[in-house]
Amino acid sequence: MSDKKIRVFDTTLRDGEQSPGCSMYLEEKISMARQLELLGVDVIEAGFPFASEGDFRSVVAVAEECQNTIVAGLCRTVASDIHRAAEALKTAKRPRIHTFVATSDIHLEYKLKRSRSEVIDMTANAVRIAREHVDDVEFSAEDATRSDVDFLCEVFATAVECGATTINVPDTVGYTLPGEYADLVRSVKERVVGDKDITISVHCHNDLGLAVANSLAAIEAGATQVECTVNGIGERAGNASLEELIMAMTVRADKMPYRTNIDTTQLYPASQLLSSIVSFGVQPNKAIVGRNAFAHEAGVHQHGVLSNPLCYEIMTPESVGVPKNSLVLGKHSGRHALISRYEQLGFALSEPEIASIYPRFIALADRKKNVYDQDLLALAPARRPTAIAA
Ligand code: KIV
Ligand code: ZN
Repeated sequence: MSDKKIRVFDTTLRDGEQSPGCSMYLEEKISMARQLELLGVDVIEAGFPFASEGDFRSVVAVAEECQNTIVAGLCRTVASDIHRAAEALKTAKRPRIHTFVATSDIHLEYKLKRSRSEVIDMTANAVRIAREHVDDVEFSAEDATRSDVDFLCEVFATAVECGATTINVPDTVGYTLPGEYADLVRSVKERVVGDKDITISVHCHNDLGLAVANSLAAIEAGATQVECTVNGIGERAGNASLEELIMAMTVRADKMPYRTNIDTTQLYPASQLLSSIVSFGVQPNKAIVGRNAFAHEAGVHQHGVLSNPLCYEIMTPESVGVPKNSLVLGKHSGRHALISRYEQLGFALSEPEIASIYPRFIALADRKKNVYDQDLLALAPARRPTAIAA
């Protein structure tokens, strides 16, 4: 394994949370932050403190909760935003201010109504103010992939001169292609970073289904931080999926020999916890964490897997934290099997809860071939799991 360490920047609580159906209560954000720390992400972007009182309070709470992880607060390149983010991060052990401004002509003309030189000034002021509060400052050039590359590099160079320690190259609208994005990251590395100790970060959206492929191409081109979300939630078609990125680097370490801090056995618990918080789960065929990700239906596949799982499995369910589940739940399952499965999912059910769930489970099992964890979570009492068993 190489020494190249890739930082995992999780934005489930910010870019993820701001998408439809994904808003979270304060306690839910705190339990998600706990799970993300357990998972081993390097940075948790906890919210956009200036955006609302609720966002401010969640950044404060996550900052207080996290013991080792860097906690980031997002802000525009506006002084009041930056002061608010700094205030929210006051108690963080490792605070990061993340400031951003758009750099593409289309955003400058129609959204910001600013000239290129004004954007350069906004960048310089924002990064300087942020550095008065914290040592760890990330600067993002929104819509970088549709920006003029000379101007983009000028903006990044300004951010670096003024003290940014990480520069982020977002594919805000999910427009780029892997080879093109890799070239862009290489240009930024050569023209802006050189031998300076600056982290290049990448942040991809999934509008063309390429967020993970683009992120991996960028890592191969020199990015050392990747921004992503659990289950790939996020604006529109979502962000790059954390579990897919991590398992691609793990399974294909022969081609991508990078280190991360991630404990892969916490991937499935993180996915399940998020699904129980937001208003939708993952699609059944979702890579890594979907309920069919390790299911083998066709007879020829089942035969192969029974002879040797490597015939059709490139990773084991256990390696991503899918609980070993020898019990097949169906209409003939008894209460004990059901109680035990709920315990594995983190629910210690009371007698009245079992009495209410069991007949609904049997009715469901009557209609469906198999009953999956997602179905059980839908029947579960409306409270958080106490612990997620791996
Ligand atoms: O997609 C984007 O450009 C963002 C930035 C704020 C980093 O989320
Ligand atoms: Zn984004």
